[in-house]
Amino acid sequence: MIVLGIETSCDETSASLVDDTLIKSNIIATQHIHEQYGGVVPEFASRAHIQKIVPIVQLAVKNAGISYQEIDSIAVTHGPGLAGSLLVGMCFAKSLALRLNIPFIGVNHIEGHLLAVHANEQDIQYPAIGLVASGGHTILVHIKSPLEYKIIGQTIDDAAGEAFDKVAKIIGLGYPGGPAVENSANQGDPNAIYFPRALLEKNNFNFSFSGLKTSVLYYIESEKRKNNTLSIPNICASFQNAVIDVLLKKSIQALEQFNCSTLILAGGVVRNNTLRKTFKEHCENSKVNFYVPDPELCTDNAAMIARAGYYHLKNGELSDFELDAVPNLALAGY
Ligand code: KG4
Ligand code: ZN
Repeated sequence: MIVLGIETSCDETSASLVDDTLIKSNIIATQHIHEQYGGVVPEFASRAHIQKIVPIVQLAVKNAGISYQEIDSIAVTHGPGLAGSLLVGMCFAKSLALRLNIPFIGVNHIEGHLLAVHANEQDIQYPAIGLVASGGHTILVHIKSPLEYKIIGQTIDDAAGEAFDKVAKIIGLGYPGGPAVENSANQGDPNAIYFPRALLEKNNFNFSFSGLKTSVLYYIESEKRKNNTLSIPNICASFQNAVIDVLLKKSIQALEQFNCSTLILAGGVVRNNTLRKTFKEHCENSKVNFYVPDPELCTDNAAMIARAGYYHLKNGELSDFELDAVPNLALAGY
């Protein structure tokens, strides 16, 4: 079954063709216009999607080496995300599905992230704990099977990626902050400065990263007042260490509490190499099955949406053409 996936929930316009489990193409156009504003400007994002959606889909179809008539279904992100951005992808997906006379499937963006690991791993042992750490979300999920989820914890303020972006902005490293902070952190000492880890008490699976970001700001201001020389690499490495520490400790607690021996990572933040290495080492030492998508499948992409669409299609779960974009769409619980 060939599924065309379309993803336009934030600032990536992406289209992908997936044939059952095989990714035949995955085109991702990142919008660079937001860099000068230090964050995503919703109206510019929708306008850029409008400009890019047709050429990106055309390129995905061409690179997959198939014809439009061979596509069995179209899967598109219908939430959560920016309303105007979601509407572009939804409107395009519905129109093309109507033209080709094939079903269309609205996919939850978070579900897409959680299924991204299936691109290179077919035999994942469930039940599992899933950690989605992105610019918009930080969520711990208990996963019974690929379409059965229950959120067990989430951030009560900033998402982990948002914290990376805000710290980068404070330091003046540009947007998006994650890769810039990671690059600088590679030259620094992760134990140079102790930044706080919030909500670490047992069986609390929620996260809070707003205080951590503020601590970085206060640390910088206080060092400047004392006329001390700042080490940006040490600040980045210590901040990154605090984020990874919290994400890992909470994931370990969730694995224990829910008696799971499989951990799945997802979302833009898990592109971070130190994070990947730290989690991998822990899981190897404690005999936990550990799965993390290839880096390009961690950040927003349409292959993960097509993959989720494929599961829904196999279950006969198609969407009505009246389906709306839902900016605050929740992950359906089992
Ligand atoms: O999953 P994603 O592409 O979009 C959302 O659904 O939000 O994640 C984007 C987020 C941004 O906050 C970005 O700074 C962060 O992922 N990110 C990283 C790294 N690469 C991207 N954070 C830490 N380290 C990285 N290497
Ligand atoms: Zn995302």
